[in-house]
Amino acid sequence: MATLTINHLHKSFTFGQHKREILTDVNLSIKDNEFVSVVGASGCGKSTLLSIIAGLEPYDSGEVLVDNNPIYAPGLDRGVVFQSYTLLPWLTVQKNIEFALKAAGYAKNESIEIAKDHLDLVNLSAFANVYPNQLSGGMKQRVALARAISYRPKILLMDEPFGALDAITRNQMQELLTKIWEQHRLTVLFITHDVEEAIYLSDRIILLSVKQKGIKSIFDVNQLRPRNKTTLSSTHFISLQEKILDEINQDID
Ligand SMILES: Nc1ncnc2c1ncn2[C@@H]1O[C@H](COP(=O)(O)OP(=O)(O)O)[C@@H](O)[C@H]1O
Ligand SMILES: [Mg+2]
Repeated sequence: MATLTINHLHKSFTFGQHKREILTDVNLSIKDNEFVSVVGASGCGKSTLLSIIAGLEPYDSGEVLVDNNPIYAPGLDRGVVFQSYTLLPWLTVQKNIEFALKAAGYAKNESIEIAKDHLDLVNLSAFANVYPNQLSGGMKQRVALARAISYRPKILLMDEPFGALDAITRNQMQELLTKIWEQHRLTVLFITHDVEEAIYLSDRIILLSVKQKGIKSIFDVNQLRPRNKTTLSSTHFISLQEKILDEINQDID
């Protein structure tokens, strides 16, 4: 079954008299438990697409459905993690997650327990009572991830969530996300400008193009799971990476 269905989506931005098309006739379906990445040159509309699905950005025409329900506004059926840290600075780590759970309608006791479980899931139990500004960037993103999945959204939307992290922390986050995805069978739409990251994490990769104003190609990642660092040096991995990078480069002039 499809968790996310997009039919004939069109999106433009208007500057004064001038209307500029960003996404034209985007069609996409993401199955339950599928991990799909979106890559493409800067400005191709990755964040715009994610914001539309998150319900944060209106669109011109078409259909965007999560579990067959049309999306017009943000909702608890979607969990979102952005590159910049969106934790509430005046609440402790534990309270940040409880806050989201309470907003989702959970009772106080339940919220406390679920928040604890999710901090444990991202290995941050020891930091439950500290404030976000006392955490490293990677730790903040672990809290954001814990918060985004704590109320069990149908789909997790991530916009370059590890883009601001150093290489080692980024690798750790990729491992953690993969582990959680395998354990909890999440459905994920993951945006990245890093093709290696996209292949390593995904079942499928969507390539958006500035020139085509929409989806140019879709790639299946035929790599067994669980994946590990030797996956990165397999022939399939390297040739897929070259093919995707070639297509992105054709899009830039
Ligand atoms: N709020 C906005 N108003 C006008 N133009 C925008 C707005 N948001 C994005 N754009 C334009 O839409 C295009 C796609 O942007 P974006 O989705 O952020 O690309 P990406 O995330 O792939 O780098 C860019 O040309 C950008 O300048
Ligand atoms: Mg972006």
